[in-house]
Parts: sequence; structure tokens; C-alpha cells
Amino acid sequence: MAEQGTGDTNEPHETIDALSAENRKFPPSEAFKANSLVTDTFLYDQAAEDDEAFWARQASGLVDWAKPWDTVLEWDLPDAKWFVGGQLNVAYNCLDRHVLGGNGDKIAIHWEGEPGDTRTITYQQLLDEVSQFANVLKDLGVQRGDRVNIYLPMVPEAAVAMLACARIGAAHSVVFGGFSAQSLSDRINDAEAKVLITADGGYRRGAVFPLKPAADEACADTPTIEHVVVVKRGGNDVEMVDGRDHWYHELIEGASTECPAEPMDSEQLLFLLYTSGTTGKPKGIMHTSGGYLTHVTYTHKYVFDLHADTDVFWCTADVGWITGHSYIVYGPLSNGATQVMYEGVPNHPGNDRMWEIIEKYGVTIFYTAPTAIRTFMKWGATEPAKHDLSSLRVLGTVGEPINPEAWMWYHEHIGGERCPIVDTWWQTETGGIMISPLPGATTTKPGSATFPLPGVSAELIDDEGHRVDVGGGYLTLTRPWPGMLRGIWGDPERFRETYWSRFEGRYFAGDGAKLDDEGYLWLLGRVDDVMNISGHRISTTEVESALVSHPAVAEAAVVGATDATTGQAIIAYVILRGGEDVDAEVLRNHVAEEIGAIAKPKQIYITPDLPKTRSGKIMRRLLRDVAEGRNIGDTTTLADASIVDELQARAAVVADD
Ligand code: WTA
Repeated sequence: MAEQGTGDTNEPHETIDALSAENRKFPPSEAFKANSLVTDTFLYDQAAEDDEAFWARQASGLVDWAKPWDTVLEWDLPDAKWFVGGQLNVAYNCLDRHVLGGNGDKIAIHWEGEPGDTRTITYQQLLDEVSQFANVLKDLGVQRGDRVNIYLPMVPEAAVAMLACARIGAAHSVVFGGFSAQSLSDRINDAEAKVLITADGGYRRGAVFPLKPAADEACADTPTIEHVVVVKRGGNDVEMVDGRDHWYHELIEGASTECPAEPMDSEQLLFLLYTSGTTGKPKGIMHTSGGYLTHVTYTHKYVFDLHADTDVFWCTADVGWITGHSYIVYGPLSNGATQVMYEGVPNHPGNDRMWEIIEKYGVTIFYTAPTAIRTFMKWGATEPAKHDLSSLRVLGTVGEPINPEAWMWYHEHIGGERCPIVDTWWQTETGGIMISPLPGATTTKPGSATFPLPGVSAELIDDEGHRVDVGGGYLTLTRPWPGMLRGIWGDPERFRETYWSRFEGRYFAGDGAKLDDEGYLWLLGRVDDVMNISGHRISTTEVESALVSHPAVAEAAVVGATDATTGQAIIAYVILRGGEDVDAEVLRNHVAEEIGAIAKPKQIYITPDLPKTRSGKIMRRLLRDVAEGRNIGDTTTLADASIVDELQARAAVVADD
């Protein structure tokens, strides 16, 4: 089994050099500023004066509380509590208050199915269905504090299920529909969930992909699951287990639309979301109610310059990721916005599907990932040119660094050179956006996430923990923020160790960054063994564990290599057990079964040996060099230098294929 935490880090010097050449600047236009919420430094000044008072102002201005808080912040590193003593209901904030305010007929969600079927859901309808489903959950025995797992395609029922949990004080744990049965059961068991909500299947690339069989396989091994609720979407045949499985539409039919939104404590657990760390075991990141809702409502409003009356917002993430939690469900609905939710892939039936949707619904704010933008670039500017994109006002990116070339393409071909671009840096752990321009106030530079938002304190630190004012360093956060994670489910020690131990008194994000001489931040990617594949976090160790769980594999080493489209690609080096012979494709599929298709290595090299130091540590940096076709420098520390020549020869053969 490959070694963990060898301590070697990605050294992004080449990226630093490439970015240093980027001098273009884009101030907000006068036309944009004329109608923008923030055009000066007012929010920054307020926050700099007193950040707690600043956040308290956001909490009282943007969120409705059933009971006011006594204390804004209790901070006992690493444990933060926000708005202590306050009570609220998150679902009330996302639904009831808009209906009570006369906006019941306003469209909350324009849902677009991949085959072209649509649903239009008003705030009143969403409130009714959430209340019904909350009653269903109660009838199934779900109580305040219980955990409910959600494993769904991108259907409105995903948002309904999340909000229904919030309404009754149960915590949801959403697992991305692309994860395998094994990943699902691991997460269910870690959270000890009582109920699983899934679907028969969903649409992807023009066909139905079944989900229920994976849910069934997972549930064979999850003693805490008492009920499975199944949404009918794919129409594919499924087996229903008597007494355990129920159709969503049948349960809803008889349920009352009356379900009072009970006040919850500000620190009531709202959800768990599992994310990869540097070990094989994903971490259940804990988010609570009052602080999280304040953070996502505030950022959704100011980062996207939201005008809730007129804007149509579209975030292309899946609800299975934090971006979907914060900027499809909680942020936009709390702000009473109208949004688009799309079920499928961007190239079905044609490569212009995204642009067709923008034109169809008059989308004004579009939020997507750099990987997607690079894919759109490959498909060509003729695709967006087929559609009228003049409704767009603001563009956003998230999930990985955006290269200046992709930024410029986005700016020209999607934004028509008129839309500000907000490159938003944040993490599952931060809950909401932390570093980003404010579109009406910030002069942007292509490839830079610019500055910490008002209320957020970030600093770069060198190896010794000294502050870096210009140049490269580790990204840390120096003050607690309302949306911050409250811990790792069931593992307080890992929480402290992972985030708070490397630099005393600071949260260490795991990212490297650079500050230029004008104070702009340039994110440079992870400095730990976490890869970023199309904006999705996967740890090298997780993939290694999956590989060595195959009976033919003796040892595996995995690295993330730079990839022009997906940011990074998974490259694996595998040593087989003596006498075993297995095809790389079999191993790729094995990883997909263990974790999910997103973790399938792009390339697997079967090798007789791996480059190791004399003390037996695998030299990952070297493997990355090989994978990226770089010259290998000094190999004197290697136990057997000839293995590198051999690996390079194999890589060259693959490159020629
Ligand atoms: C990376 C996604 C550069 C980063 C919201 C972080 C980014 C990880 C950016 C979190 C960005 C996210 N520029 N890198 N704008 N946004 N990242 O938890 O490495 O899925 O640590 O949250 O994505 O990924 P996660």
C-alpha cells in the first residue's frame, strides 16, 4: 500500500511564472456600476472596522430569526459558534417568508430535464411540496437531529428533500449520484442515517442511468436505514423491497401541506457533506444553520450582484456538491431568486445546450466551472454564437483555478465583453464563497480570484509560518467566519489536526496561492495529496486504496497530472502481485465500482517497480514529472534510478498511441 502523507508538495512554480505575465485589467464598466449593489469600498470598510458587527448586520438584515441571538460569536479555536442563542428555521427563510411577503407566485425554479421536459415551480408550490414531504419524513419516524441520506439525480425533489429535512431539523447528507454503491454505503454508515431518498434513475447523455440498483446494493450493508423513498424519474424497472421501499409520489399524495416550520437553534446541524481528505476515508463536513445561512445569503447576493426581482440565476453544479448546496438550494432560495436547474450534460442533444437554455430562460447570472469553460472552448465559439446571450449580466467560476486563456474566452464569447467575471474561491469546509471580486466594485485580472470578501480574513504564510505579502505561500484564514465547518462528523481530533494544526491559530485551506504586488490573490491549486479533477476533490490515497483492494494489485501510487481540460487527471502506477496478469481497463473499472466513475484513472501504468527513496517512500513528485512528460532532474536519492527510465519509456509509448 502506498505511503500516506509523504510530505512532498506540488510546487507550482511554472504556474507562478505563467501568471506573472498576466497584466490585463478589467474594471467594472460604468454601465454595470450604474445599477450595481456595491460600487465602492463601503462593505470592506465596515468589515475591517469590526468583522463581528459586520456579520451580525448581515445576519439581521438578510435572515429572519424566530428569536434573536445573545452572542454573535463564541470562538474557542477550533470551535466556533455563531449567533448563539438565536433561533431560526432555514426552510422558513428559503420559502415561507417569500410567500408571506406576497411572492408565492414567483418562480423559484425553472427546471429543465435533459430530454427537454420542463417544470416550473413557484415559491408557493415549493413550500407546499416541502411541507408535504416534511410530514412524510415525520411519518417515517424522522426526528430532529436524525440524519437522512439523499442520492438523487438533478431533479427538483433533491431540493425538496433537503428543505424538508431543514424544516424538521433533520440533517441531510447528500451523496452525488455518480458515486458508487460502496461510497454510498460508507457515507450512510458513517452518518448512521435512518432514511435514504433516491430515484429509479435519471437522464444522462440521452439515456437513463439507473440509481436504485446502486442504492439497493448499498442498503444491503447499512443496518441503520429503515426506509427508502424512491422518486420516479427514469421510468426504468426497479425492485421495491416490501415495508422498506416507498414511492415518493405515493407518499406525497396523501400528505398535508401544513407543516409548521419550528424554530431551531442557530447551531442546529443542517447537513453533512462528505469530501475527500488526504486519507482514504472521506470526511463528513458539518454545517449548521444560522451562520451558514447568513454566509450563503450574503455571498449569493453581493458576489453575483443579485437583483432578486429581475435576475434569473443559473448555477450548473450538481446538488451533490457543496456548490449545489450553497448556490442552488440555500443561497438563491433564501434570497427569493428565480433560478434555472438543469438535469443533464452540456452536450445533449447538441454542444450548444447550455447556450440554448440561457436564451430560453433569459438567464442573467451564470455560474460554472473552469473545466466546463475549457470544454466549451474546445467545442468552439460557433456554439454560443448560435444563441442570443444578451440577457447575461454576471459570469462566475468556481472549483479550480481558471487559466487566463479560458477567462478571456468566457469574457468574449459568453459575456460579450460586457459581463464582469467573478472567480470565486471557497471549499466544502468554508460553506460559502470566501475570495472573489465584487462585480461592481473590483477591477479583475484574468486568472485571479482577487481579494477576500468583506468579513473574510485570509493571509499567505511561508513554511515557517511567516506572513507573505508578495509572492507564493500557503493560504490560511485568520478569523472564523459564519459559514465555516463546525467539525468532522464523529472525529473532532481529525478536525483539529487537518485544519488547525499546521499553522498555529489559523485555518489551513490546503491550497497554495500567490500575492502579486497589487495585493491580488492567485490560487495555485492544492499543496496536499488531494487532486482536483474537473473541480471535484479526490484524494490520491482514496484511489490507491481502491486499486489495492483488487486481488491482483500489490501496490499502487496515484498522482494528479496537469490536464488541459479537466485541470488535473488521475494517473496511477500499479505493481501487480506475482503471477497476476490483469488489464489496466479492468482496474480502471474496478476503481469506478469502488468510488465512482469520476475517480477512474485516465491512465494506469502497470510497472514492475516504483521510484522509492532508500527509506522506502514513493517519490510522487517524480511520478508527476513522468506523468506530465517533464525532465527528471536529480535521482540520486532513489534506491533504483533505472525504474524512472523504464516508466518514462512507457509514458512515451502511451503518448504516441
Ligand atoms: C479548489 C468547491 C482556485 C481549491 C467550492 C479548494 C479553487 C477546492 C477555486 C475546494 C477557485 C475552489 N480558484 N481553486 N476559484 N474554487 N478551488 O470542497 O483547491 O469541492 O481547496 O469546494 O477547490 O473544493 P470543494
